Amino acid sequence: MISKKMQEALNAQINAEYYSSYLYLSMAAHVRAINLDGFAAWLRIQAQEEMIHAMKMYDFVLERGGRVSLTALEGPPTEWASPTAIFEATLEHERYVTDRINKLVDLAIAGSDHATNAFLQWFVNEQVEEEANAEAVLQKLRLMADAPGGLFMLDQQLGQRPAASAASAAANASGAA
Ligand code: FEO
Repeated sequence: MISKKMQEALNAQINAEYYSSYLYLSMAAHVRAINLDGFAAWLRIQAQEEMIHAMKMYDFVLERGGRVSLTALEGPPTEWASPTAIFEATLEHERYVTDRINKLVDLAIAGSDHATNAFLQWFVNEQVEEEANAEAVLQKLRLMADAPGGLFMLDQQLGQRPAASAASAAANASGAA
């Protein structure tokens, strides 16, 4: 049975994961409106991954005999100055999520909740990838700042991102889950 404190913290993280999904969906809509369809596809898959993260926590809370309490989502921003600004915001957001996950691990350890600690290790590893993905795109955007056509090429590349379910299955196969 999960402690009340841990249950509340995981419920708050379910909300944070859904907010992440909402944020990336909003970014996807923004870039779609300026015809960066590859960026939009990438961000849409990112939004789906966040829903998978939320559902992993949702299922874990239920599995441990806890209660899931869904709460209102904050509205995400709807406009960004540029694709670079979007990926700066993405990296900043993922660092924030990493900090939240680390605090959840701290809470699990403090409460000798080994099951939740073990469960959260998937998220610890996932955050390394989440930050690296955002950083990789951001570095490309910064490098090609003055190169005409670079945005078009990057858009094509980002459009090749595999669907969230495939990415998730690959993570499972490599032992990350
Ligand atoms: Fe659910 Fe992007 O971390």
